[in-house]
Amino acid sequence: MYTSAIEKTLAVAFAKYPVPVAPVLSPPNKNGGGDFQCNSVLQLAGRMRMKPGDLAREIADAMDLAGIAEVTVTGPGYLNFILADGYVETLARASAAAQSMVDPVATPETVVIDFGGPNIAKALHVGHLRSFVIGESLRRILKAVGHEVVSDIHYGDWGLPIGKLILGIETSVISTVEAGGVPNVDWSLDQLGEFYRLGNELTKSDPVFYEKAKDNTLRLQAGDRDLRALWSRVRAISLAGIEGHIKLLGAHFDTLDGESDVDPLIPAMIAALQEAGLATESDGALVGQVVEDDSLPPVLLRKSDGSSLYGTTDLATIVDRIAKYEPDRVVYCVDGRQGVHLKTCFMLAEKAAAIGVSGFTPLPHLVHADFGTVNDASGKPYSTREGKPALLEDLIDEALEKARDVVTDDIDGETARKVAIAALKFADLSTDRRSGYVFDPERMMSFTGRTGPYLQYACARVSSLLRKAADDGRGGPGDIAISHPADRDLAVEVLGFPAAVHRAAIELQPKAVCDAAYDIATALSRLYAEVEILRAPDGEREGRLALLTWAGATISTALDLLGIEVPERM
Ligand code: ARG
Repeated sequence: MYTSAIEKTLAVAFAKYPVPVAPVLSPPNKNGGGDFQCNSVLQLAGRMRMKPGDLAREIADAMDLAGIAEVTVTGPGYLNFILADGYVETLARASAAAQSMVDPVATPETVVIDFGGPNIAKALHVGHLRSFVIGESLRRILKAVGHEVVSDIHYGDWGLPIGKLILGIETSVISTVEAGGVPNVDWSLDQLGEFYRLGNELTKSDPVFYEKAKDNTLRLQAGDRDLRALWSRVRAISLAGIEGHIKLLGAHFDTLDGESDVDPLIPAMIAALQEAGLATESDGALVGQVVEDDSLPPVLLRKSDGSSLYGTTDLATIVDRIAKYEPDRVVYCVDGRQGVHLKTCFMLAEKAAAIGVSGFTPLPHLVHADFGTVNDASGKPYSTREGKPALLEDLIDEALEKARDVVTDDIDGETARKVAIAALKFADLSTDRRSGYVFDPERMMSFTGRTGPYLQYACARVSSLLRKAADDGRGGPGDIAISHPADRDLAVEVLGFPAAVHRAAIELQPKAVCDAAYDIATALSRLYAEVEILRAPDGEREGRLALLTWAGATISTALDLLGIEVPERM
């Protein structure tokens, strides 16, 4: 609703042209000068085969925004809007009073988000951090703009790693029995990790063990009762352990399905693909070719021994999700290094849908929201001294330790935890998700600069000011009033927030929300430096307190969309 008058007038102006281009408002270029900008004229001009500058002037002249904003044309054909001073105040008051900060999109979709993706019996490592953190933020952002969202963790619980884990268990437990010990069935997650490591080592050292691990996987998938019982036990222990991480990271999953859950759908799916000519034999295995040449590998659907693979369960999961939710979109928040795997799965599903293969229609839009790696100072993926991917737990511990160093002594452990997680998450979310970033506890925990703790502090400071205002007997917030340029600057930043959320939802980039929150917080800091608040004269004081309340609430909404909690005091 924030700049609805401008948006509506723009839409009317654009609608006069015979090509469908929807105008969007964005923050101004740093040197553009205005309060908001619309760059969509360039697109319209391209379609209309007109000079963008001429078209922009034509549109600017046609827009009647008297009393609302002044329009100028800058650059190659940007429309710049400078809100009329009285209108900033009117808009700010209306926005602050509105039921919800962000307007819903015109056509809400059902979106499944596939994120987290931990493998049972393997400790979560640094790569999983990003999937959990970005996935949760996207879940919140998509919901905030009105989409129906189903989040699914998609446990890795059905492939060769399980065969290796079972091998590890068999080997260790048998040796314990031989040594006169009693097999312990109440394993911890760490012990399971040990079993997996052992199984994995064995398969690397000896082809006989590798065959055994493969055979375990096959027998499990074929329904061997003992193996299924062991697997269920392991899965339950593992899930209980992972739950702790999920809680700590504050992720929410509507469904906790795994690869194994779609196993019953595989035979019919493979038969349908075969019948449609999309799955063919190759050296005894079954593959789904997605291109004519060898520019992309085929999707491996069934090994020659009959077992299914990662791609098989991913395809069957598409079929399952269509049947369960009929989604418009499935967003996979998965490491960029799995790009080829997902791309080939998507292509095969699209081929199947195009010729109406049963189960694959109506095919949702399949999107890979990929992300880069967490790196060390030298730019290499963050790892342990032994060169293995760092464990998520160690990363969180490092952040917690740092947080205890930086927060003051009288802050409780709960607040320190919120600060640590905020630092970790904001560092992860505030860059373009597709690029990697450097894990630097010192910098991410700093209370100044573009960090999670800085934004938490901005909220806590507003709360503290409001508490003081309530105590000094001069009255609290009234109606928002703009009495100084610093008030106006802050209001304009806050007014831009809903557009940032929409951009984040469209581009699947939480960064847009981070940027908006940071811009509001810096405008707040400038306000503190330039004007009085509690000691402002009557009239000005209530209006400014109301403005601060609104700005603080907006930053805290932004943090909530990032999955970051706000401590009351810091
Ligand atoms: N379990 C996989 C891993 O740990 C990630 C799963 C990603 N999601 C998917 N639908 N393939 O690497």
